[in-house]
Amino acid sequence: MLEQLETMLQEAVAELNAVTTSDALREWELKTLGKNGAVTRMMRGVGSLPAEQRAAFGKRANEVKAALTEGYAEREQLIKAQELARDLESGQIDVTLPGRPASLGGLHPSTQTLRRYREIWAEMGFQVYRSREVEDDDTNFTLLNMPPHHPARDMQDTFYTTTPNVILRTHTSPGQIRAMREFGKGGTEPIRIILPGMCYRFEQITTRSEIQFHQVEGLAVGRGIRMTDLKGTIAEFARRMYGDKAQVRFRASYFPFTEPSIEVDVECFLCGGKGCRVCKYAGWLEISGAGMVHPTVLRNGGYDPAEWSGFAFGMGPERVTMLLHDINDIRYFWSNDLRFLEQF
Ligand code: DAH
Repeated sequence: MLEQLETMLQEAVAELNAVTTSDALREWELKTLGKNGAVTRMMRGVGSLPAEQRAAFGKRANEVKAALTEGYAEREQLIKAQELARDLESGQIDVTLPGRPASLGGLHPSTQTLRRYREIWAEMGFQVYRSREVEDDDTNFTLLNMPPHHPARDMQDTFYTTTPNVILRTHTSPGQIRAMREFGKGGTEPIRIILPGMCYRFEQITTRSEIQFHQVEGLAVGRGIRMTDLKGTIAEFARRMYGDKAQVRFRASYFPFTEPSIEVDVECFLCGGKGCRVCKYAGWLEISGAGMVHPTVLRNGGYDPAEWSGFAFGMGPERVTMLLHDINDIRYFWSNDLRFLEQF
């Protein structure tokens, strides 16, 4: 029995020295020192020994148990230290490596154009007025001199809502009425503003037309404002936007809310007026509708048209952006395709 005990000790020590992982160590412990382990089994066998051998065996067995327990503790420490060193090594961070660059967002091409417009108009003394995108039918049409059955309403297919009289604005012009009523102080104060923002039309989406688009409306109201003020202001805007030499021309047109009404062309900034694919060989690009504010509209804004006059204009920044960047499909603007957006 005593011999068996010594053999068991030698084997257990050899096995323990071969253990290199926590898992293997736990297995060794169960097998050797556990409730049904080798040491316990030996100690249980003490009863089958002749009485005179029992004391010596018991003493030795206790020594063996103590030695193995101590060996186990040492081994455990060693393995823990090794495993920690290994983890530190594999999880090591090389702080000298260059970091991954954070990807920055960019400004949408429309936003870039809108900001340029705003800058130029601000330099020319025009403040920004943000009017609402959800409008009422009256303000969007009727107060702009388009009564319910006016044929001009056909030009603007409208998104109606389930609430009677509530629509999405089809142009930024209704903001004229709101601004005149808010800032005109009952038709006693002059106004000089631009009204940028999104507009909505229930249209067939094609390469050239979308159901949403920006407009930049302009409005100046004062005493003695004349058509020449409109022409000079627009011409100055064109020079600042398209370059010192930019030429503009004015064509007679019709809008219900202006009288007289005009459309403004700028000499094609891509071919210098010689004619190219972009200007369809006309040499001119349309940049704005405009006109003198119709007396009815002035009156609806609270002004007495006998004393006050004004000019207004409406521009489409998406069209300009398309021309500037040679974009041939307006649907790219709101499709949120990064391959398109990242080019700007
Ligand atoms: N509201 C017009 C449209 O959506 C654009 C426009 C034309 C605005 C002439 C104006 C203007 O202020 O004077 O087509």
